[in-house]
Amino acid sequence: MMSKPYVLITRKLPEDVIAPLSAIAEVEMWPHEDAAMPRDVLAEKAKRAAAILPMVSDPIDEGVLSACSALKVVANMGVGYDNIDVSAAARRGIVVCNTPDVLTDTTADLTFALLLATARRLVEAAEFLKEGQWKSWSPFLLAGADVHHKTMGIVGMGNIGQAVAKRAKGFEMNVLYYNRSRRPEAEKKLGAVYRPFFDLLAESDFVVCLTPLTPETRHLFNREAFRQMKSSAIFINAARGAVVDEQALYEALVHGEIAAAGLDVFEKEPVDPTHPLISLPNVVALPHIGSATHETRRAMMTLARDNIIAVLEGRPPLTPVNRPS
Ligand code: DGY
Repeated sequence: MMSKPYVLITRKLPEDVIAPLSAIAEVEMWPHEDAAMPRDVLAEKAKRAAAILPMVSDPIDEGVLSACSALKVVANMGVGYDNIDVSAAARRGIVVCNTPDVLTDTTADLTFALLLATARRLVEAAEFLKEGQWKSWSPFLLAGADVHHKTMGIVGMGNIGQAVAKRAKGFEMNVLYYNRSRRPEAEKKLGAVYRPFFDLLAESDFVVCLTPLTPETRHLFNREAFRQMKSSAIFINAARGAVVDEQALYEALVHGEIAAAGLDVFEKEPVDPTHPLISLPNVVALPHIGSATHETRRAMMTLARDNIIAVLEGRPPLTPVNRPS
């Protein structure tokens, strides 16, 4: 009898989600839900895996991939896949999959919530009340910035960018966007207007970063970019931390070059709570929870699982991001 293929899952996921995979494979799951599998353990176990289901925080680099002799598919639990060396995988005939679509609206909701929380100082206000500092209703007490009827500039007009634009329209905002390629559909359906990157920065009240992390977008938001923004601008990042030069952002906030920032992602995660950005009163910081709802996280796991089942059963993957040679 042929032995079942070995599948490595780098975090504890619900048994009922994994059951259909366990029926056809020997599945090993890291037994912890809230602690990452150490890199060396992952690399060692991956050597005999036919499939890996990593989290977006697990680096699957050339070193890991080159030691795998049986690996057919890496099915990331996330739409972003900058943690995986996709071309090294393709050279070895390994399919890489992500989880698009299922998280689009959820991540757009969080992005918009972060924008509102930052503009209207919700976190600061809630802390103020809890700390017993509320003594009187005052004309400018915790006054923030209006969101409605302002200009939003979206950098990265993929599915999530377009879903954020849709929400912005509900707030009667003027929507600008910058993307590597023009999005005629979004222009027609959402009334979003294309602008070159630096023009968008100069015109926007809210600059919303939703672009994937690639070698081209690493530190796209640098000193020059922040200098281009209005001094009243609010910067929101719900994409990847490394798209931003954090030192440049810190200086822009401290020197009043921009007004505030809402950050769901950081260059190094989990972010150190002593990170200078976290200490600023005009920063709302979240622990990378863009897609974190029960429904969506289950949908992401399910899609990653189904990508693996498809490949192990010899069918085309559902949502591949590369074409192995
Ligand atoms: C993704 O899917 O890339 C998100 O960042 C994970 O929540």
